[in-house]
Amino acid sequence: MSLIVTGASGHLGTAAAERVIALRGSSADLVLVSRRPAAIAERFDGADIRHGDFADPAGLVEAFRGGDRMLLISADNIQARAAWHAAAIDAAKAAGVQHIIYTSMIEPGAGNPALIADSHRATEQHLRASGIGWTVLRCALYSDFQVFEAAEAVASGQFRHNRGDGRCSYVARADCAAVAAAVLTSDNRSGIVDVTGPDALDATDLAALYATVGRAEVAPVSVTDEELAAALRPADGADPDGHAQYGAALAVSLGRAIREGYFGAVTGAVAEITGRRPASVADLLQREASTVRALSGR
Ligand SMILES: NC(=O)c1ccc[n+]([C@@H]2O[C@H](COP(=O)([O-])OP(=O)(O)OC[C@H]3O[C@@H](n4cnc5c(N)ncnc54)[C@H](OP(=O)(O)O)[C@@H]3O)[C@@H](O)[C@H]2O)c1
Repeated sequence: MSLIVTGASGHLGTAAAERVIALRGSSADLVLVSRRPAAIAERFDGADIRHGDFADPAGLVEAFRGGDRMLLISADNIQARAAWHAAAIDAAKAAGVQHIIYTSMIEPGAGNPALIADSHRATEQHLRASGIGWTVLRCALYSDFQVFEAAEAVASGQFRHNRGDGRCSYVARADCAAVAAAVLTSDNRSGIVDVTGPDALDATDLAALYATVGRAEVAPVSVTDEELAAALRPADGADPDGHAQYGAALAVSLGRAIREGYFGAVTGAVAEITGRRPASVADLLQREASTVRALSGR
């Protein structure tokens, strides 16, 4: 059985590939596809490392040739990726891939205001219509990014948010990688799998965790979408490519989606599929405590 991991130089791709090798005890029959094959050549000596870029579909059929099952890691370009993922799915089908595992998000339905939802929904639809076997891993928001949110909150003494009373079941990226590797290496999961952390936290819970890890007072402060957008807006001239502005809009949309209940589900998928206890936000912050304190200036 030949397995493919796309996006193999990213954080999730690298962790998933390492886990696949650990599960199989070998890097044989593992195809790692990346825009930057040189970046992973040394780390994955023994794997079949190939160049592949979803933005350049012409080369993808050859990149995927010979693979039986493929982990399709969503690209990070939110505007372009629906078309890219469709091209990757079509190329995988042409190359003879029989099953695709796609990393989506929790509840990407039409009502979800998160700016990441439309592209995930479109990819899921394309995959379902492709005729290839499929598993969609609907991953919760990564807890890894709470390190930066925690540092800001510790520095200012306030956790400003627009999530109201909403809850979010953050999951560790390493747990998503472990689930992805387990599903890639076995054929016992198809359809939709919601991959979440062990508990759903509200703003008060998070502020308390941030205070503990930062050894400082942190108050949760509820603000409107407009107030949060204004606070995150880059200074005039400081954002020539518009990335910061887009990042601010994305953060506001995620807060709104949490407020509206789209990110609150908790499942046992990590433990069921990997046999390991999912890491909590508290676990992750504890592990990264020195980083949180350094970033916060404390
Ligand atoms: N659940 C969450 O909270 C959350 C947060 C952030 C991101 N995500 C999503 O999860 C994905 C993996 O997360 P990560 O932390 O590993 O992200 P990352 O380290 O920033 O890596 C970005 C990923 O996108 C891939 N990519 C970008 N452009 C591509 C293209 N044109 N063709 C093929 N692949 C392309 C990269 O592959 P190569 O560089 O190897 O080609 C890499 O795997 C992200 O790309 C994003 O879709 C989820």
